[in-house]
Amino acid sequence: MRYILILITLLAFGCKKNYQLTEAYDRGKEVYITNCISCHGSDGSGNLLYPAINSRVANAMTLERAVWVITQGSQNMPSVDLTDQEITDVLNYIQNSWGLETEVISIDSIISLKSTTKNAAIYP
Ligand code: HEC
Repeated sequence: MRYILILITLLAFGCKKNYQLTEAYDRGKEVYITNCISCHGSDGSGNLLYPAINSRVANAMTLERAVWVITQGSQNMPSVDLTDQEITDVLNYIQNSWGLETEVISIDSIISLKSTTKNAAIYP
């Protein structure tokens, strides 16, 4: 009996994660199509001018850098005016597309990263 309870608990947590992710992913896809696809491409592979953001190597960058580049802009990437929710969603989309997979990114972590990266001139 105890094992069944443990199993049910694990399944419930698993579903919750997937549900949250699916919602964020779908919204994030829309944000990506509207604001990012023109430079980074539909599969995130970029082109001669704009960097790929779809490979594990490209995604070795930290969430800090991603938040920073979206909110402050960097070189040829203009800052993009998005709500905290939209930033959260688009990063959930990017980090879980094209063969990538991460934990659900929470809006709270994005809000806190926005404030820590706010005045940084560059975020490597
Ligand atoms: C006008 C073209 C353009 C648009 C639109 C654009 N980007 Fe970028 N993006 C760039 C360029 C250029 C860089 C490289 C900036 C640098 O290296 O300083 C970049 C860098 C990035 C990086 C960091 C990649 C790395 O490996 O460090 C991420 C993440 C990113 N963009 C995500 C986005 C997201 C998400 C959107 C939409 C909300 C977006 N970009 C919209 C051009 C663009």
